Amino acid sequence: MPTAPTPAGAAPEAAPAPALALEDLSWSVGGAVIVDGVTLAARDGEFVAVIGPNGAGKTSLFNLVSGLTRPTRGRVLLGGADVTRERPHRRTRRGLGRTFQTSSVFGDLTAEENVGLAAQARSGESHRFWRRASSAAGPQTAEVLELVRLSHRRGAEATGLSHGDKRKLELALLLARDPELILLDEPMAGVSAGEVGELTDVIRAVQRERECTVLMVEHHMEVLLELADRLAVMHHGALLAFADPETAMADPQVQAAYLGESL
Ligand SMILES: Nc1ncnc2c1ncn2[C@@H]1O[C@H](COP(=O)(O)OP(=O)(O)OP(=O)(O)O)[C@@H](O)[C@H]1O
Ligand SMILES: [Mg+2]
Repeated sequence: MPTAPTPAGAAPEAAPAPALALEDLSWSVGGAVIVDGVTLAARDGEFVAVIGPNGAGKTSLFNLVSGLTRPTRGRVLLGGADVTRERPHRRTRRGLGRTFQTSSVFGDLTAEENVGLAAQARSGESHRFWRRASSAAGPQTAEVLELVRLSHRRGAEATGLSHGDKRKLELALLLARDPELILLDEPMAGVSAGEVGELTDVIRAVQRERECTVLMVEHHMEVLLELADRLAVMHHGALLAFADPETAMADPQVQAAYLGESL
């Protein structure tokens, strides 16, 4: 994400712009307020977990950040740039990535071919797909597959992968585009209990290696507590708390809101 250049030798007085800043972000549809005045800033390289019960507005918030929907009020800033009115592909070019839905994985292609295609799309060479198809699996593809621990499955058709491995492949497709800010919406959904630990390790490794900023919606509390620097707790579209996990969970408002409800 572009940040203001610092003149050589200048004192580092101004803090760098946050990777992501939301200002009074709101979205209403049909008279219902779905996202209600959310203000938060994620630091560069920070891992923020977005939590809240079903229907709290987490996915709607991600749609506003990625540009799939336009807010009725407020602003979205990426690296200090106001992108509120930018279309999703422009935000992608700025380094925003969102996990692909399973449908955007080509089931008949191998894991390696899927990643190769995503890498080509990133470098703007998709129109050269046919000519370059034979070299789709460049070093970047191998590196990305290694990072998500899918190297051993590189030749497997995507359709034959386990749920956990499909999630890793979706992550690999995202990484092939070299994002700086990634939004993961329930990456553990549909993944067997036995695969959750490994996927957690992969997500942590990805964030550390790529030094990217992550926003992740997740319901597995043990995963959140292991990965998150801060929790953003949503309830009825509003942000109830935004703090380190211990502080957020101890917040009386959070406790009251979740009494009897699972996160
Ligand atoms: N396009 C839409 N039109 C009308 N209502 C919508 C629309 N999108 C979402 N909603 C409503 O907004 C609320 C928040 O939905 P959202 O999907 O953002 O919640 P969520 O926190 O992601 O929930 P979950 O944990 O189930 O994924 C829900 O009540 C949902 O029905
Ligand atoms: Mg959701």
